[in-house]
Amino acid sequence: GPTLKEVAGKKGLRVGNAMGNGRTTFGDPAYRALTARECNVIVCENATKWQSLHPQPGVFDFKQADAIFAWARKEGLKRRGHTLVWQEDRWFPRWVVEHDFGAQPGREAERLLTEHITTVTRHFGDDIYSWDVMSEAVDSPTGELRESVLTRRLGGALAQIDMSFRLARANAPHAQLVYNDYMGPERGAVKHRASVLKLLETLKAKGTPVDALGLQSHVGPWSDLEAKAGRSPFLEWRKFLDEVTAMGYQLIISEFDISDRALPGDVAARDAGVAARAKDYLDVTLSYRQVTDFIMWGMADHVSFLRNQKTTMREHGMPTRTAPFDDDLRPKPLRDAML
Ligand code: G3I
Repeated sequence: GPTLKEVAGKKGLRVGNAMGNGRTTFGDPAYRALTARECNVIVCENATKWQSLHPQPGVFDFKQADAIFAWARKEGLKRRGHTLVWQEDRWFPRWVVEHDFGAQPGREAERLLTEHITTVTRHFGDDIYSWDVMSEAVDSPTGELRESVLTRRLGGALAQIDMSFRLARANAPHAQLVYNDYMGPERGAVKHRASVLKLLETLKAKGTPVDALGLQSHVGPWSDLEAKAGRSPFLEWRKFLDEVTAMGYQLIISEFDISDRALPGDVAARDAGVAARAKDYLDVTLSYRQVTDFIMWGMADHVSFLRNQKTTMREHGMPTRTAPFDDDLRPKPLRDAML
């Protein structure tokens, strides 16, 4: 049968996977082959984060990312970058959080941000066609912009976000620049969505070079819950996407997986439930022609970050089943739903 990238290609959509560093991901020839067969884009799940690339002051380590991208290039997959900044102190390396910013903290923070973004984007150059410049700048429950070790010294979050995108544009002039966040269609994300809209509006008014919004798409049991409550689950989501696209932004699905929480214990029923959730979400989201990329956050159940999360693992005593392929790399109903 046809592969994901073949089917998506007919819609003008690219298909990608987030490649991990481990034994079961980049270290597994079968998993690499599956990725190359189904996808035409690769993103590093962790290897291009600040923590991986810039683990000590002034020290950069591109080995792991270069290895993954070299393989991708050889296989004919395009490369995207994730993520120049991840806006929460716990996702910066410890050394940044504990850094002595000295007598002129603003200057020193600007120097660090500039050094990081400049060094990383120039290292990869035009090899990377699209960058997540900034991830998760909004505090979901409050809708406030997050403050971090850098924002507090750079005159607030907005100034630091603006600076990050300008640095990326200046040093990776041909790359698509993405703001990446996890707001979804669920009612609990009302403030999150509103805040992302406001941020995108403000950045547009400032002339900040943002090309696209990354919809992470860690899909929850949204449609089931709303349907149970007698509500139309995707009304607010459509409004949100309408407003984002009306401002001229492109969209990418940047970290796709489907939660298998609150589904029956029986494997077949569970897999069918996951597939149905995907279909509900994708029918709406992929109806926007502005979506250019569809990136899976791991393609097989056993490599998904969800497998090891306390909140999601072993419901009904069963390991999570949140990806389009199972632990043995066999296709699941989720893959059919995606096709
Ligand atoms: O590689 C080390 C290993 O050497 C060490 O022994 C082990 C002990 O904890 O940790 C390993 O690193 C872990 C890494 O995943 C690789 O498995 C980190 O602790 C762990 O924090 C890291 O988790 C990643 C997480 O981001 C935090 O960086 C997940 O793989 C990754 O899927 C997840 O991805 C994020 C996106 O970047 C942003 N959006 C949300 C998404 C899910 O949380």
